[in-house]
Amino acid sequence: MDIKQQFSLKAYNTFGIDVMTPFFISVTSENELKEALSMSEFKDALVIGGGSNMLLTKDLDRPVIHIALKGMERQNIPMGDNEILLKVQGGENWHTFVMYCVQNNLGGVENLSLIPGNVGTAPIQNIGAYGVELKDVFYSCNTIHRESLEERVFLLEDCKFGYRDSIFKNKLKDQYVITSVTFKLTTTVHTIRTDYGAIYDTLKTKNIPAPTLKDVSDAVIQIRNSKLPDPSKLGNSGSFFKNPVIDQHTFTVLRTTYKDIPYYPIGSDQIKVPAGWLIEKAGFKGKRYGDAGVHDKQALVLVNYGGASGKEIWALALRIQKAVQSKFGLTITPEVNIF
Ligand code: EPU
Repeated sequence: MDIKQQFSLKAYNTFGIDVMTPFFISVTSENELKEALSMSEFKDALVIGGGSNMLLTKDLDRPVIHIALKGMERQNIPMGDNEILLKVQGGENWHTFVMYCVQNNLGGVENLSLIPGNVGTAPIQNIGAYGVELKDVFYSCNTIHRESLEERVFLLEDCKFGYRDSIFKNKLKDQYVITSVTFKLTTTVHTIRTDYGAIYDTLKTKNIPAPTLKDVSDAVIQIRNSKLPDPSKLGNSGSFFKNPVIDQHTFTVLRTTYKDIPYYPIGSDQIKVPAGWLIEKAGFKGKRYGDAGVHDKQALVLVNYGGASGKEIWALALRIQKAVQSKFGLTITPEVNIF
């Protein structure tokens, strides 16, 4: 076991923030993970995957366990003619897994191309994009309890998935480590989801009336590349805030002033409003304060131009939050975890 002391996390978070942890270990097997969890040095450890959904605002007083379990394996459980189960280890990069599926004609995750992060952390916030969420392809996940080290399988209904939400963020927060995720994917007849405006428009421009999995994936990659910064070039954590969900009455009042406000109805009485639009209208799109900034093509994304500290990015986030609150009377809350 290669335990590092006073270790910089700069390479382990996509914001590229340089903070220290007292103890660090990268585990490559379930046994190593169990061993680490039982060591006194790693008590109350922060467990990380791709580090793509966190903002580190100070040196940690907690140890860090990095999940680096690798592998993908088809399962031999009969699923009907058109489906297979693929078990993917938690430390696999999400996009690598999506590319494997696209190349091997396995359908279901093509709309989720190029989402940063790892497979094992994807269920925690039920990642989603372009009309698809992880829950749509989720079959189960294997976990280890942090205290008892017992293994437990969570099925779809156990996870209580919601918009960027699951039981792992709520009732069971910090209790289990997800070691692998099993996905239900189609093999022959695929459900191609192109109803999300940007995908439809991109495929139309490319003149592709009957898109394959690869066509959809390529379109998503093109869309994302056109407005979301690549974390390996410009530090960021994807959407920094969640889109606020408001009631019909609040929305109706808002719309009398802001006639062009984009919105997505959820159920019969709730409306999701894009935080990116609110932030842009509050005047922050493309703004830069030192090395902390708001992306110029998508205001929902905060960026680190190189030398920003986590504190500076957090100060910017609070400033934005306050401005949106005072302009629209709406509270936007971070999607990323703040430490
Ligand atoms: N908009 C603006 N200005 C902006 C950004 C957006 O006016 O600066 C408007 C757009 O014109 C559009 C609407 O807001 O009318 C929605 O924008 P977009 O389609 O880009 O989606 P989003 O709501 O901003 C969500 C997810 C993204 C995901 C996209 C596509 C959240 C918090 N974010 O963003 O997820 O890729 O939809 O499905 O739900 C992520 O979580 O890291 C992420 C990138």
